[in-house]
Amino acid sequence: MSQKNALYSQSGGVTAVINATACGVIQTANAHDEIATVYAARNGILGALREELIDTSLEDPADIAALMHTPGGGFGSCRYKLKSLEENKAEYERLIEVFKAHDIGYFFYNGGGDSSDTAFKVSQIGDALGYHVNCVGIPKTIDNDLPVTDTCPGFGSVAKYVAVSMMEASLDVESMAETSTKVFVMEVMGRHAGWIAAAGGLAGRNHDEPPQIILFPEVAFDQEAFLARVKESVENYGYCSIVVSEGVKWPDGRFLSDAGTRDAFGHAQLGGCAPVIANMVKENLGYKYHWAVLDYLQRSARHLASQTDLDQAYAVGKAAVEYAVAGKNSVMPVIERLADKPYEWRISEAQLGDMANVEKMMPEDFITDDGFGITEACRTYLEPLIQGEAYPPYKDGLPQYVRMKNQLADKVLPAFEK
Ligand code: F6P
Repeated sequence: MSQKNALYSQSGGVTAVINATACGVIQTANAHDEIATVYAARNGILGALREELIDTSLEDPADIAALMHTPGGGFGSCRYKLKSLEENKAEYERLIEVFKAHDIGYFFYNGGGDSSDTAFKVSQIGDALGYHVNCVGIPKTIDNDLPVTDTCPGFGSVAKYVAVSMMEASLDVESMAETSTKVFVMEVMGRHAGWIAAAGGLAGRNHDEPPQIILFPEVAFDQEAFLARVKESVENYGYCSIVVSEGVKWPDGRFLSDAGTRDAFGHAQLGGCAPVIANMVKENLGYKYHWAVLDYLQRSARHLASQTDLDQAYAVGKAAVEYAVAGKNSVMPVIERLADKPYEWRISEAQLGDMANVEKMMPEDFITDDGFGITEACRTYLEPLIQGEAYPPYKDGLPQYVRMKNQLADKVLPAFEK
Protein backbone atom coordinates (compact mmCIF):
# COMPACT_ATOMS: atom_id res chain seq x y z
CA MET A 1 0.00 0.00 0.00
CA SER A 2 1.35 3.42 -0.89
CA GLN A 3 1.49 5.64 2.13
CA LYS A 4 1.16 9.40 2.19
CA ASN A 5 1.48 11.93 4.98
CA ALA A 6 -1.40 14.06 6.24
CA LEU A 7 -1.55 17.73 7.14
CA TYR A 8 -4.10 19.04 9.63
CA SER A 9 -4.67 22.75 10.11
CA GLN A 10 -6.80 24.73 12.51
CA SER A 11 -8.27 27.94 11.19
CA GLY A 12 -9.94 31.09 12.46
CA GLY A 13 -11.35 31.53 15.96
CA VAL A 14 -10.70 28.52 18.15
CA THR A 15 -13.31 26.81 20.33
CA ALA A 16 -13.54 24.83 23.55
CA VAL A 17 -13.63 21.61 21.52
CA ILE A 18 -11.58 22.18 18.35
CA ASN A 19 -8.79 20.15 19.93
CA ALA A 20 -11.20 17.22 20.22
CA THR A 21 -11.48 17.37 16.45
CA ALA A 22 -7.67 17.41 16.21
CA CYS A 23 -7.63 14.37 18.47
CA GLY A 24 -10.19 12.66 16.22
CA VAL A 25 -8.07 13.35 13.14
CA ILE A 26 -4.77 12.28 14.64
CA GLN A 27 -5.98 9.15 16.42
CA THR A 28 -7.97 7.98 13.39
CA ALA A 29 -5.13 8.73 10.98
CA ASN A 30 -2.69 6.84 13.20
CA ALA A 31 -4.98 3.82 12.97
CA HIS A 32 -4.95 3.88 9.15
CA ASP A 33 -2.07 2.33 7.23
CA GLU A 34 -2.68 4.66 4.29
CA ILE A 35 -1.39 7.55 6.39
CA ALA A 36 2.22 7.69 7.56
CA THR A 37 2.90 10.84 9.57
CA VAL A 38 0.28 13.37 10.62
CA TYR A 39 1.60 16.90 10.56
CA ALA A 40 -0.20 19.88 12.03
CA ALA A 41 0.36 23.32 10.56
CA ARG A 42 1.74 25.75 13.15
CA ASN A 43 -0.70 28.62 13.56
CA GLY A 44 -2.96 27.40 10.81
CA ILE A 45 -2.50 27.94 7.11
CA LEU A 46 0.33 30.41 7.74
CA GLY A 47 2.35 27.50 9.12
CA ALA A 48 1.62 25.51 5.97
CA LEU A 49 2.81 28.42 3.80
CA ARG A 50 5.90 28.89 5.95
CA GLU A 51 6.60 25.16 5.96
CA GLU A 52 6.23 25.05 9.72
CA LEU A 53 4.87 21.56 10.11
CA ILE A 54 4.49 20.12 13.58
CA ASP A 55 5.29 16.42 13.67
CA THR A 56 2.48 15.02 15.81
CA SER A 57 4.18 11.61 15.97
CA LEU A 58 6.66 13.22 18.40
CA GLU A 59 3.86 13.96 20.86
CA ASP A 60 3.04 11.59 23.67
CA PRO A 61 -0.15 9.64 22.77
CA ALA A 62 -1.48 10.56 26.24
CA ASP A 63 -1.06 14.23 25.31
CA ILE A 64 -2.90 13.69 22.04
CA ALA A 65 -5.70 12.06 24.06
CA ALA A 66 -5.68 15.02 26.48
CA LEU A 67 -6.54 17.31 23.57
CA MET A 68 -10.06 15.98 24.14
CA HIS A 69 -10.40 18.08 27.25
CA THR A 70 -8.16 21.06 26.42
CA PRO A 71 -9.54 24.32 24.99
CA GLY A 72 -7.78 26.71 22.60
CA GLY A 73 -5.98 25.52 19.49
CA GLY A 74 -3.28 23.01 20.40
CA PHE A 75 -1.24 23.75 17.27
CA GLY A 76 -2.19 27.39 16.91
CA SER A 77 -4.64 28.98 14.52
CA CYS A 78 -4.77 32.13 12.45
CA ARG A 79 -7.10 34.48 10.69
CA TYR A 80 -5.63 34.51 7.23
CA LYS A 81 -7.82 34.27 4.19
CA LEU A 82 -6.04 33.18 1.06
CA LYS A 83 -6.87 35.57 -1.75
CA SER A 84 -8.58 34.37 -4.89
CA LEU A 85 -6.60 32.23 -7.30
CA GLU A 86 -6.41 35.13 -9.75
CA GLU A 87 -5.16 37.56 -7.10
CA ASN A 88 -2.55 35.37 -5.50
CA LYS A 89 -1.92 32.12 -7.28
CA ALA A 90 1.55 32.06 -5.74
CA GLU A 91 0.12 31.19 -2.32
CA TYR A 92 -1.71 28.17 -3.67
CA GLU A 93 1.35 27.09 -5.62
CA ARG A 94 3.40 27.43 -2.46
CA LEU A 95 0.99 25.20 -0.56
CA ILE A 96 1.25 22.53 -3.23
CA GLU A 97 5.04 22.89 -3.19
CA VAL A 98 5.02 22.31 0.60
CA PHE A 99 2.67 19.34 0.17
CA LYS A 100 4.98 17.86 -2.45
CA ALA A 101 8.09 18.41 -0.36
CA HIS A 102 6.55 16.60 2.60
CA ASP A 103 4.65 13.98 0.65
CA ILE A 104 1.28 15.24 1.88
CA GLY A 105 -1.54 13.32 0.26
CA TYR A 106 -4.27 14.33 2.69
CA PHE A 107 -5.12 17.86 3.79
CA PHE A 108 -7.60 18.52 6.59
CA TYR A 109 -8.74 22.10 7.06
CA ASN A 110 -10.66 22.67 10.28
CA GLY A 111 -12.55 25.95 10.10
CA GLY A 112 -15.58 27.99 9.10
CA GLY A 113 -16.86 29.37 5.81
CA ASP A 114 -13.61 30.96 4.65
CA SER A 115 -11.68 27.79 5.34
CA SER A 116 -14.14 25.74 3.29
CA ASP A 117 -13.47 28.10 0.43
CA THR A 118 -9.71 27.73 0.84
CA ALA A 119 -9.84 23.95 1.11
CA PHE A 120 -12.04 23.88 -1.99
CA LYS A 121 -9.56 25.97 -3.97
CA VAL A 122 -6.62 23.91 -2.77
CA SER A 123 -8.38 20.75 -3.90
CA GLN A 124 -8.79 22.29 -7.36
CA ILE A 125 -5.33 23.73 -7.80
CA GLY A 126 -3.55 20.56 -6.72
CA ASP A 127 -4.90 18.72 -9.72
CA ALA A 128 -4.27 21.68 -12.00
CA LEU A 129 -0.62 21.63 -10.93
CA GLY A 130 -0.34 17.89 -11.35
CA TYR A 131 -0.18 17.04 -7.63
CA HIS A 132 -3.28 15.38 -6.31
CA VAL A 133 -4.16 15.86 -2.68
CA ASN A 134 -7.39 14.81 -0.99
CA CYS A 135 -8.71 17.94 0.71
CA VAL A 136 -11.30 17.51 3.38
CA GLY A 137 -12.82 20.43 5.28
CA ILE A 138 -13.86 19.93 8.89
CA PRO A 139 -16.55 22.19 10.35
CA LYS A 140 -15.93 24.43 13.33
CA THR A 141 -17.22 27.76 14.54
CA ILE A 142 -18.83 28.96 17.71
CA ASP A 143 -20.92 31.29 15.55
CA ASN A 144 -22.91 28.28 14.25
CA ASP A 145 -23.36 29.98 10.91
CA LEU A 146 -22.21 27.28 8.47
CA PRO A 147 -24.82 26.08 6.01
CA VAL A 148 -25.86 22.45 5.48
CA THR A 149 -24.70 21.13 8.89
CA ASP A 150 -27.23 20.92 11.75
CA THR A 151 -24.76 22.64 14.02
CA CYS A 152 -21.09 23.57 14.10
CA PRO A 153 -18.72 21.95 16.59
CA GLY A 154 -17.84 24.57 19.17
CA PHE A 155 -21.30 26.10 19.26
CA GLY A 156 -22.97 23.67 21.68
CA SER A 157 -20.36 24.40 24.34
CA VAL A 158 -20.64 28.15 23.95
CA ALA A 159 -24.41 27.81 24.05
CA LYS A 160 -24.18 25.91 27.32
CA TYR A 161 -21.78 28.42 28.87
CA VAL A 162 -23.92 31.38 27.82
CA ALA A 163 -27.16 29.81 29.11
CA VAL A 164 -25.55 28.82 32.43
CA SER A 165 -23.91 32.23 32.87
CA MET A 166 -27.23 33.95 32.22
CA MET A 167 -28.94 31.74 34.81
CA GLU A 168 -26.29 32.27 37.45
CA ALA A 169 -25.79 36.01 37.04
CA SER A 170 -29.55 36.53 37.01
CA LEU A 171 -29.92 34.82 40.39
CA ASP A 172 -27.38 37.31 41.65
CA VAL A 173 -29.15 40.35 40.18
CA GLU A 174 -32.51 39.15 41.38
CA SER A 175 -31.14 38.92 44.93
CA MET A 176 -29.72 42.44 44.81
CA ALA A 177 -32.46 44.18 42.89
CA GLU A 178 -34.43 45.80 45.70
CA THR A 179 -31.63 48.04 46.89
CA SER A 180 -28.88 47.76 44.27
CA THR A 181 -28.48 46.44 40.72
CA LYS A 182 -31.66 46.14 38.68
CA VAL A 183 -30.29 45.48 35.22
CA PHE A 184 -27.68 43.01 34.04
CA VAL A 185 -26.42 43.14 30.46
CA MET A 186 -24.40 40.23 29.07
CA GLU A 187 -22.73 40.59 25.69
CA VAL A 188 -22.03 37.50 23.62
CA MET A 189 -20.22 36.82 20.37
CA GLY A 190 -21.68 36.28 16.92
CA ARG A 191 -21.03 39.28 14.75
CA HIS A 192 -23.58 38.49 12.07
CA ALA A 193 -25.82 35.69 13.29
CA GLY A 194 -27.70 35.51 16.59
CA TRP A 195 -27.24 31.83 17.42
CA ILE A 196 -25.16 32.45 20.52
CA ALA A 197 -27.48 35.18 21.76
CA ALA A 198 -30.40 32.81 21.23
CA ALA A 199 -28.69 30.22 23.41
CA GLY A 200 -28.92 32.68 26.31
CA GLY A 201 -32.67 32.20 26.00
CA LEU A 202 -32.32 28.65 27.25
CA ALA A 203 -31.74 30.05 30.76
CA GLY A 204 -35.48 30.52 31.27
CA ARG A 205 -38.86 29.80 29.71
CA ASN A 206 -41.23 32.55 30.83
CA HIS A 207 -41.08 36.34 31.08
CA ASP A 208 -40.47 36.14 34.81
CA GLU A 209 -37.36 34.06 34.11
CA PRO A 210 -34.15 35.43 32.62
CA PRO A 211 -33.26 36.65 30.11
CA GLN A 212 -36.20 39.01 29.84
CA ILE A 213 -34.66 40.51 26.69
CA ILE A 214 -32.42 39.14 23.93
CA LEU A 215 -31.04 41.51 21.31
CA PHE A 216 -30.25 39.74 18.03
CA PRO A 217 -28.18 40.96 15.08
CA GLU A 218 -31.04 39.83 12.85
CA VAL A 219 -33.44 42.35 14.45
CA ALA A 220 -32.87 46.10 13.98
CA PHE A 221 -32.50 47.71 17.40
CA ASP A 222 -35.62 49.62 18.47
CA GLN A 223 -34.53 51.80 21.38
CA GLU A 224 -38.00 52.85 22.42
CA ALA A 225 -39.44 49.33 22.49
CA PHE A 226 -36.30 48.10 24.26
CA LEU A 227 -36.47 50.68 27.05
CA ALA A 228 -40.18 50.05 27.51
CA ARG A 229 -39.46 46.34 27.91
CA VAL A 230 -36.69 46.98 30.46
CA LYS A 231 -39.01 49.19 32.50
CA GLU A 232 -41.81 46.66 32.36
CA SER A 233 -39.51 43.87 33.48
CA VAL A 234 -38.10 45.85 36.41
CA GLU A 235 -41.59 46.91 37.47
CA ASN A 236 -43.00 43.38 37.25
CA TYR A 237 -40.11 41.20 38.38
CA GLY A 238 -37.82 43.62 40.17
CA TYR A 239 -34.95 43.22 37.70
CA CYS A 240 -34.13 42.74 34.04
CA SER A 241 -31.53 40.45 32.50
CA ILE A 242 -30.46 41.15 28.94
CA VAL A 243 -28.42 39.15 26.43
CA VAL A 244 -26.99 41.29 23.67
CA SER A 245 -25.19 40.04 20.62
CA GLU A 246 -22.05 41.91 19.64
CA GLY A 247 -23.59 42.24 16.19
CA VAL A 248 -26.71 44.24 17.11
CA LYS A 249 -27.36 47.10 14.72
CA TRP A 250 -29.35 50.31 14.53
CA PRO A 251 -32.11 50.38 11.91
CA ASP A 252 -29.71 52.13 9.51
CA GLY A 253 -27.32 49.18 9.67
CA ARG A 254 -24.59 50.69 11.87
CA PHE A 255 -23.38 48.49 14.70
CA LEU A 256 -24.78 49.65 18.02
CA SER A 257 -21.28 49.91 19.36
CA ASP A 258 -20.40 52.18 16.43
CA ALA A 259 -23.16 54.59 17.23
CA GLY A 260 -21.02 57.34 18.69
CA THR A 261 -22.87 56.84 21.98
CA ARG A 262 -21.03 57.01 25.26
CA ASP A 263 -20.27 53.86 27.11
CA ALA A 264 -20.76 53.18 30.80
CA PHE A 265 -17.44 54.84 31.57
CA GLY A 266 -18.50 57.97 29.78
CA HIS A 267 -16.06 57.32 26.93
CA ALA A 268 -17.18 57.47 23.34
CA GLN A 269 -17.79 53.89 22.21
CA LEU A 270 -14.91 51.63 23.18
CA GLY A 271 -16.07 48.51 21.43
CA GLY A 272 -18.60 46.27 23.02
CA CYS A 273 -22.28 47.08 23.02
CA ALA A 274 -23.01 45.87 26.57
CA PRO A 275 -21.68 49.12 28.07
CA VAL A 276 -23.56 51.14 25.46
CA ILE A 277 -26.81 49.35 26.31
CA ALA A 278 -26.19 49.62 30.05
CA ASN A 279 -25.51 53.33 29.82
CA MET A 280 -28.62 53.85 27.71
CA VAL A 281 -30.69 52.18 30.45
CA LYS A 282 -29.10 54.31 33.15
CA GLU A 283 -29.56 57.57 31.26
CA ASN A 284 -33.16 56.91 30.33
CA LEU A 285 -34.50 54.90 33.26
CA GLY A 286 -32.01 55.57 36.01
CA TYR A 287 -31.54 51.92 36.98
CA LYS A 288 -28.28 50.72 38.46
CA TYR A 289 -26.68 48.12 36.23
CA HIS A 290 -23.84 45.65 35.79
CA TRP A 291 -22.60 44.48 32.44
CA ALA A 292 -20.26 41.77 31.22
CA VAL A 293 -18.67 40.98 27.91
CA LEU A 294 -18.21 37.22 27.80
CA ASP A 295 -15.66 37.50 25.02
CA TYR A 296 -12.99 34.77 25.06
CA LEU A 297 -14.38 33.30 28.28
CA GLN A 298 -17.31 31.86 26.31
CA ARG A 299 -15.10 30.46 23.55
CA SER A 300 -12.65 28.76 25.87
CA ALA A 301 -14.92 27.52 28.68
CA ARG A 302 -13.97 23.87 28.33
CA HIS A 303 -14.86 23.26 31.99
CA LEU A 304 -18.50 23.68 31.01
CA ALA A 305 -18.44 22.01 27.60
CA SER A 306 -21.42 20.17 26.19
CA GLN A 307 -20.88 16.42 25.90
CA THR A 308 -22.94 16.43 22.70
CA ASP A 309 -20.70 19.09 21.21
CA LEU A 310 -17.59 17.23 22.27
CA ASP A 311 -18.84 13.98 20.71
CA GLN A 312 -19.62 15.78 17.47
CA ALA A 313 -16.27 17.56 17.42
CA TYR A 314 -14.43 14.24 17.67
CA ALA A 315 -16.75 12.55 15.18
CA VAL A 316 -16.17 15.10 12.41
CA GLY A 317 -12.40 14.70 12.81
CA LYS A 318 -12.67 10.93 12.62
CA ALA A 319 -15.02 11.02 9.62
CA ALA A 320 -12.76 13.45 7.78
CA VAL A 321 -9.93 10.94 7.87
CA GLU A 322 -12.23 8.12 6.81
CA TYR A 323 -13.41 10.18 3.83
CA ALA A 324 -9.87 11.05 2.82
CA VAL A 325 -8.52 7.51 2.94
CA ALA A 326 -11.58 6.37 0.97
CA GLY A 327 -10.32 8.68 -1.79
CA LYS A 328 -12.83 11.48 -1.27
CA ASN A 329 -11.81 14.98 -2.15
CA SER A 330 -13.38 18.41 -1.72
CA VAL A 331 -15.89 17.19 0.86
CA MET A 332 -16.75 17.97 4.48
CA PRO A 333 -18.31 15.74 7.13
CA VAL A 334 -21.32 17.54 8.59
CA ILE A 335 -23.83 16.82 11.32
CA GLU A 336 -27.23 15.66 10.23
CA ARG A 337 -30.14 15.77 12.70
CA LEU A 338 -32.34 12.70 12.59
CA ALA A 339 -34.59 13.48 15.56
CA ASP A 340 -35.06 16.28 18.09
CA LYS A 341 -36.06 14.40 21.21
CA PRO A 342 -34.25 12.27 22.02
CA TYR A 343 -31.68 13.93 19.81
CA GLU A 344 -30.31 11.65 17.17
CA TRP A 345 -27.63 12.65 14.74
CA ARG A 346 -25.17 11.17 12.33
CA ILE A 347 -22.31 12.35 10.18
CA SER A 348 -23.07 12.89 6.53
CA GLU A 349 -21.10 14.14 3.57
CA ALA A 350 -21.33 17.65 2.14
CA GLN A 351 -19.54 19.18 -0.82
CA LEU A 352 -17.02 21.87 0.11
CA GLY A 353 -18.33 24.05 -2.69
CA ASP A 354 -21.71 24.20 -0.94
CA MET A 355 -20.20 25.21 2.40
CA ALA A 356 -17.95 28.03 1.26
CA ASN A 357 -18.76 31.66 1.99
CA VAL A 358 -22.41 31.19 3.03
CA GLU A 359 -23.56 32.45 6.45
CA LYS A 360 -26.58 30.79 8.02
CA MET A 361 -28.66 33.32 9.96
CA MET A 362 -31.34 32.52 12.52
CA PRO A 363 -34.59 31.67 10.74
CA GLU A 364 -37.39 34.16 11.33
CA ASP A 365 -39.53 31.61 13.15
CA PHE A 366 -36.81 31.18 15.79
CA ILE A 367 -37.31 34.75 17.04
CA THR A 368 -40.52 35.84 18.81
CA ASP A 369 -42.73 38.40 17.08
CA ASP A 370 -41.65 41.17 19.46
CA GLY A 371 -38.00 40.50 18.45
CA PHE A 372 -36.82 40.02 22.05
CA GLY A 373 -36.95 36.28 22.63
CA ILE A 374 -36.70 32.77 21.20
CA THR A 375 -39.60 30.63 20.06
CA GLU A 376 -40.39 27.02 20.92
CA ALA A 377 -38.99 26.00 17.52
CA CYS A 378 -35.68 27.61 18.45
CA ARG A 379 -35.66 25.94 21.85
CA THR A 380 -36.34 22.58 20.22
CA TYR A 381 -33.37 23.17 17.95
CA LEU A 382 -30.99 24.41 20.67
CA GLU A 383 -31.77 22.18 23.63
CA PRO A 384 -30.16 18.96 22.39
CA LEU A 385 -26.93 20.76 21.57
CA ILE A 386 -26.13 21.60 25.20
CA GLN A 387 -26.91 18.17 26.61
CA GLY A 388 -24.41 16.36 28.77
CA GLU A 389 -21.45 17.50 30.84
CA ALA A 390 -17.88 16.73 29.84
CA TYR A 391 -15.78 17.95 32.74
CA PRO A 392 -12.02 17.91 32.30
CA PRO A 393 -9.93 16.11 34.91
CA TYR A 394 -8.89 18.37 37.79
CA LYS A 395 -5.71 18.47 39.85
CA ASP A 396 -5.02 20.79 42.76
CA GLY A 397 -8.30 22.46 42.06
CA LEU A 398 -7.53 23.27 38.41
CA PRO A 399 -8.32 21.55 35.12
CA GLN A 400 -5.43 19.53 33.75
CA TYR A 401 -5.00 21.04 30.32
CA VAL A 402 -2.25 19.86 28.02
CA ARG A 403 0.37 21.80 26.10
CA MET A 404 1.75 20.19 22.95
CA LYS A 405 5.50 19.96 22.36
CA ASN A 406 4.94 21.28 18.86
CA GLN A 407 8.25 20.16 17.34
CA LEU A 408 8.66 21.16 13.75
CA ALA A 409 9.76 18.85 10.94
CA ASP A 410 12.94 19.96 9.13
CA LYS A 411 12.35 22.50 6.41
CA VAL A 412 13.51 21.58 2.94
CA LEU A 413 12.28 24.54 0.92
CA PRO A 414 13.45 28.14 0.66
CA ALA A 415 11.59 30.57 2.92
CA PHE A 416 8.23 31.76 1.69
CA GLU A 417 8.11 35.41 0.66
CA LYS A 418 4.62 36.86 0.74
O1 F6P B 1 -14.79 32.62 15.68
C1 F6P B 1 -15.82 33.52 15.53
C2 F6P B 1 -15.70 34.62 16.52
O2 F6P B 1 -15.67 34.02 17.76
C3 F6P B 1 -16.76 35.70 16.46
O3 F6P B 1 -17.94 35.43 17.11
C4 F6P B 1 -16.03 36.89 17.04
O4 F6P B 1 -16.56 38.10 16.59
C5 F6P B 1 -14.66 36.67 16.50
O5 F6P B 1 -14.49 35.30 16.37
C6 F6P B 1 -13.52 37.20 17.32
O6 F6P B 1 -12.35 36.94 16.62
P1 F6P B 1 -10.88 37.16 17.10
O7 F6P B 1 -10.55 36.12 18.11
O8 F6P B 1 -10.01 37.03 15.88
O9 F6P B 1 -10.83 38.55 17.65
